[in-house]
Parts: sequence; structure tokens; C-alpha cells
Amino acid sequence: MEEISFRTKIYTGENALDRLKTISSEKIMIISDPYIVKSGIIQEVVSRLESNGNAYIIFDNIIPDPPLETVAAGVKELLHFSPSIIIAIGGGSAIDAAKAIKDFSEKLQPKEAKMTFIAVPTTSGTGSEVTSFSVITDKDKGVKYPLVADSLLPDEAILDTALVMTVPSTITADTGMDVLTHALEAYVSIKANSFSDAFAEKAIQLVFEYLPRAYENGNDLEAREKIHQASCLAGLAFNMVGLGINHSIAHVCGAQFKIAHGRMNAILLPTVIEYNADLPGYDNRNASFTAAAKKYAHAAKIIDSPIPSTRSGVKSLLARISKLKKTLNIPESLTECGVTKEQLKEAQEKIITTALNDACTVTNPRTPSRSDIETIIDKIQ
Ligand SMILES: NC(=O)c1ccc[n+]([C@@H]2O[C@H](COP(=O)([O-])OP(=O)(O)OC[C@H]3O[C@@H](n4cnc5c(N)ncnc54)[C@H](O)[C@@H]3O)[C@@H](O)[C@H]2O)c1
Ligand SMILES: [Zn+2]
Repeated sequence: MEEISFRTKIYTGENALDRLKTISSEKIMIISDPYIVKSGIIQEVVSRLESNGNAYIIFDNIIPDPPLETVAAGVKELLHFSPSIIIAIGGGSAIDAAKAIKDFSEKLQPKEAKMTFIAVPTTSGTGSEVTSFSVITDKDKGVKYPLVADSLLPDEAILDTALVMTVPSTITADTGMDVLTHALEAYVSIKANSFSDAFAEKAIQLVFEYLPRAYENGNDLEAREKIHQASCLAGLAFNMVGLGINHSIAHVCGAQFKIAHGRMNAILLPTVIEYNADLPGYDNRNASFTAAAKKYAHAAKIIDSPIPSTRSGVKSLLARISKLKKTLNIPESLTECGVTKEQLKEAQEKIITTALNDACTVTNPRTPSRSDIETIIDKIQ
């Protein structure tokens, strides 16, 4: 038996942020990053809270790939201020850090009144606003830990396209590829079902149609809106059925070599698809195709690529991903990101062990061995 529930209330459409105007007489902790404060984006939140007798503080210490130390500092602030509402505004890093800050605080000081958690994404990538995941980095060990717990799920998510209009093209590309990776990993997850497939398919379709537009013209409101929705849809999909080894390897490689999360996923994606599809050799005509290969071929069909057979469907999807990555100027390899052969060799054993133990590995459609992971990282070198 599987339980499927959607607990996060989603506010979307024009002026979705006005939902905040209905909050009154509350103690609010706003958790964000320095860019959101400096750029003035934070005012969009503050101005909607100020006139209703709310008291608030702003904790803006969050840096990309939030480290444990920042979370600990946030817990201290929270326990001191004791808010009734937490509003996380920023990219996945700010939202993930805020989730961890709230969760650790509740564990340290369980109180009767539950804090309400409102997530306001300003990037279109992680889907963190609707997931029970929070990815925290241990900088000393060079490892990212995906925490997974129901208690991390936001109560509300506000998708306001106006907030993502300033995202620079490189971050639009990286985060957009994160969306595609979420959707494809959820689509072939061992737990995939008709409900998660519906969300994943729509997200895949939206990414191929609108991501090049959002990348080429950041002022394209329609493209920005569709990618913001795709990000949330992909989040809903993987929150239900998990991710796979693309994320397992990306978590450790991203932390180790300081490569943005979405970019690291994008570098891995074609190689992981080939591994999961596990296409039989051309001389083995009687071999059957894996369930994952059939799903990838179906994904190609959704984006209007010709698929006369499962094999050509998988190839077709790979060709479309390659074209998309070229359009977005995403590097092909770790070498292009400045990682040397020696650095990779030195980190190899740690990457393999950490990826195999990552929480995302259990839902991958193919169970990897150490040498499978080694081959994948060799191929992306
Ligand atoms: N919780 C989940 O379900 C989940 C899923 C995937 C990834 N993650 C994690 O999320 C993190 C990545 O999040 P991200 O990709 O959103 O990036 P991010 O939050 O690290 O932000 C990247 C940069 O974009 C800037 N930025 C944010 N909004 C902006 C805006 N509107 N205009 C201009 N600049 C803006 C930030 O200041 C930052 O410098 C990683 O730690 C990753 O592991 C979490
Ligand atoms: Zn991701």
C-alpha cells in the first residue's frame, strides 16, 4: 500500500506573494541569503508584512550549498526569537537551510505550538518548496547530506514569477537542468506511479519547450512562469517517488569540486541515462528492453521526438538533452569545470562510497556496483 498526499498549499499566479498580506500579529523569522537582501527582493516580503502588527527578524546568512555551521547559527537565532512563522525566501540553499533550522530547533526545544513554514523560491530548480528533502553540506568532509523527513515539508509554497526575473542566465541554465534531472529520475524511479508520472511528464515537456527561451531572454515572462511551475511539478514528482544515482553522484561531486548542483546534474545526466537504460547490444536482437529504457523512450515521445523503437527513443532523448545543453552552454565534462585527473583520482574512492550510501540511490532503477559508479565518473571526466 502506498499513501499519496500533497500537504503543501501552493499559491501561484500573478501577485501570489500577496498571500503574505493576510498574515497579522505573528512573530516571523525570515530566512534568506545576502543577495536577496542586497538586491531589495526581500522588500517584496517585508512590505507585505509590515503593516499588520507582525514582528519580524531577518536571518540572511545563507550561502550556496548551506553548511552545518550556518544551520547551527540559524538554530540559535530561532530559539532566541521564538517565531510562530518561518518564511524562507531564496533559492534551494535558503529554503533547505531554513527547513533544517526549523527541524533541528523543534527537536532541541519541542513546543506545543507548531511553527508554520512558508517557502518562497526565487530560483526555478530544486522544487524544495514542496519536498521533504533538505541538502546540507559538511564542508570539512566535502560531503552533502540529503536529509529526508516528513517534518521538513513546507506548509505553504508561494510561486511568484516576479521573483525569478532577475536570475542570471548561467543560474537559469543550471537550475533548469536540475528540474529536468528531477523529472527524469522520478520518471524512472523504482517507485514511479501514474501520479508521479503525470507531474514528471509535464515538467519534462515544459523544460524542453521553455528553458531555452528563459535562458535566452530573462524578461520572457511566460517562459519564466512555465519553468517556475515545472520546477514545482518536478519537486512534487520526486517527493513522491525519490530520485536516483544522478543525484547521489552529484551530491558528493558537487560538494567535492564546488560545482553548482544543477550543473553537476547536467554533466552526469546523459551517462546516467545510458547506464540506467542498459540497452542490449545490436547483435542481441532477442534481448528485451529494461523498464527504464521504455520510460526514457516515452519521455522522448512526450517532447515530440521520433521513436520508431525503444532503442531509438532512448537515443532520441539523449540527442535532445545534448542539444539543450549546447543551447544552455553547459560544460560536457569535469575537466571543462577545471577538475584535474589527479583530483578526480584522489577523490574517487570517497565519491563511490558516498554515492552508494546516498539516500537517493535506493530508488534508482538499476542497482549500481562500485565499478558501475567508477565507470560513470570515468566517462564524465
Ligand atoms: N531540497 C531539495 O529538494 C533539493 C533538490 C535539489 C537540490 N537541492 C539543493 O539546493 C541547493 C541549490 O539551490 P539553487 O540551485 O536554487 O541555488 P542557490 O539557492 O544556491 O542559489 C544560487 C545563487 O543564485 C542566487 N539567486 C537566488 N535567487 C535569485 C534571483 N531571483 N535573482 C538573482 N540571483 C538569485 C543566490 O543568491 C545564489 O548566489 C543545493 O544545495 C542543492 O543540493 C535541494
Ligand atoms: Zn536536484
